Amino acid sequence: MDTEALRRKVKDQTKQTQVCNFLPTSLSPFNYKGMNGRMEDLFQRLEHLAEQRNRLGLREGVGRNVSQRTPTTSVVEEGFCPYGRDKDKEKLKTLLLPSDNESSSNFSVVPIVGMGGVGKTTLAQLLYNDEQVKEHFDIHAWVCVSEQYDALRVIKTLSEQITEKSCDISDMNSLEIRLREQVRGKTFLFVLDDLWNESYDEWDRLRTLFTYGAKGSKVIVTTRSRRVASTVHNTIPIHDLEKLSDNDCWLLLTKHAFRNENSISHPDLEEVGKKIARKCNGLPLASKTLGSLLGCNLDYKEWNHILDNNLWDLPHANSVLPSLRLSYHYLPSYLKQCFAYCSIFPKGYELEKENVILLWVAEGLIPQSESKKAMEEVGERYFDELLSRSLFQKPRLDQPSFTMHDLINDLAMFVSREFCFRLDQKHSHEVPKRVRHFSYMRGNIDTSSKFQPLGGVKCLHTFFPVSLTPYDDTRDDELYVSNKVLDDLLPTQKCLRAFSLSRYKNINHLPNSIGNHIHLRYIDLSYTTIKMLPDTVCTLYNLQTLLLLGCSSLVKLPANMRKLIHLRHLDIRGTDINEMPVHMGRLKSL
Ligand SMILES: Nc1ncnc2c1ncn2[C@@H]1O[C@H](COP(=O)(O)OP(=O)(O)OP(=O)(O)O)[C@@H](O)[C@H]1O
Ligand SMILES: [Mg+2]
Repeated sequence: MDTEALRRKVKDQTKQTQVCNFLPTSLSPFNYKGMNGRMEDLFQRLEHLAEQRNRLGLREGVGRNVSQRTPTTSVVEEGFCPYGRDKDKEKLKTLLLPSDNESSSNFSVVPIVGMGGVGKTTLAQLLYNDEQVKEHFDIHAWVCVSEQYDALRVIKTLSEQITEKSCDISDMNSLEIRLREQVRGKTFLFVLDDLWNESYDEWDRLRTLFTYGAKGSKVIVTTRSRRVASTVHNTIPIHDLEKLSDNDCWLLLTKHAFRNENSISHPDLEEVGKKIARKCNGLPLASKTLGSLLGCNLDYKEWNHILDNNLWDLPHANSVLPSLRLSYHYLPSYLKQCFAYCSIFPKGYELEKENVILLWVAEGLIPQSESKKAMEEVGERYFDELLSRSLFQKPRLDQPSFTMHDLINDLAMFVSREFCFRLDQKHSHEVPKRVRHFSYMRGNIDTSSKFQPLGGVKCLHTFFPVSLTPYDDTRDDELYVSNKVLDDLLPTQKCLRAFSLSRYKNINHLPNSIGNHIHLRYIDLSYTTIKMLPDTVCTLYNLQTLLLLGCSSLVKLPANMRKLIHLRHLDIRGTDINEMPVHMGRLKSL
């Protein structure tokens, strides 16, 4: 109905061109506020039901296997000041520096074991970046191994980090030889962060290469698994990273709760705050996230309410930490939806703020604000709020990318489990029929079998390929997707709102039937070889975002683009378009 109204609106608008150039937005026939209000009610009811279900313990399938760990980097947040790790750091630093009783082996492993979120990666980063440690080694490299052990990727990453250049070799033997020669006779400091693989054979293969290094070389391994630590450890005893003390948790919590303020100015909050800190169970990640939550309301009653919440008492084996679940529970509903939607992004994905906001807008998660502020501005506020609540993190101040900690990502997956689905490269899954938002890891060649699990799904709102490694636009990575996505899959998904096939080299057209997808609000065809868009695109009256960045074969836009009255973002950088269709100036939202 909405689209029909829009179609009429466009038609009327065309008729009235001599009289009136555009319809003022205040005359918009769409009652967004009402619609969002209803949606919010519905969401709250659903949430209530989900909560009831949790209380009843109906949690089968929850906390699906963690499929992939965050690709961490060696970079530690600027000005970062850790709590309660001085002794750990000093002890491990001594082990990393040369000593008289070096082991007989050329290299020693420093295994760090501890539960998820306890601070293993952080400690490894502190050691790796310590100037005194650094200068003792000829070469340095950091690789985030993660759950899916991929020997080729590990060796390639180590090798690339040593040379600081990307490498095109994809054959294992050549890569091994290359790494062997790179380490030969040199002292190296490597970090294998987040190792899960227990196989001795795999480890032995890597170990063999490391033996070519000079005496005194070190490999820091972080892992949640004691068995893994036992597999890799040679001479240096396993270092158990203990939980933080309650007091350190309290200090960390106050840092995030009071931000620039002094906790002394809130003496009334100290007692209850310390009790909450104790419930963080020594986990810095929990202290940080809860601190950010508490900081939203520096009020005794509110803090007490959080302390008394019975979500604390839920068992959490194989599931999400109660402290993190609380952080979600206390989010305002508009943020809950936006946060849950982010579960379509895989662990370690670098969130591009602008793009995330465009997707939220496309999915109708951002209400049109009273003050006529652009929806994007509201989206930006939401994003910043999630950042200030530590649900997003910004690893580097000088770079515009954001990430989610892997346990926070688990939380997002947990809360969105029936509606969002991420198809990870190495797993074949059954996709729940009610899934609305679907993402998958782009492979080099995505054949139709990859999308078979979508067979019974009929109401996708989001279809979104993702990649973990940022693309190097100077390198011509050739990615292909089965044409069946356009010919067979797309036509069955009538509810699509956000659709992307960006980066695929074989995407050179869109079918005319794209015009049937009347709900589409977001299309991303960036870096495809699309030559022209069908005229039917101009009937997608709801379309807000059309991304054609880097489509170098595209020379022309359809003539009736002026009909896309809701178009807000059109990116044609890097295309060969040198003339815009007529009356584009009428698109007042652009
Ligand atoms: N000593 C500390 N002081 C302050 N913040 C910390 C400390 N240790 C860790 N953090 C913060 O807690 C969060 C979790 O830490 P980290 O990622 O190092 O945990 P982890 O043990 O590596 O978890 P995982 O097993 O999931 O990889 C990070 O956001 C980090 O900044
Ligand atoms: Mg880690």
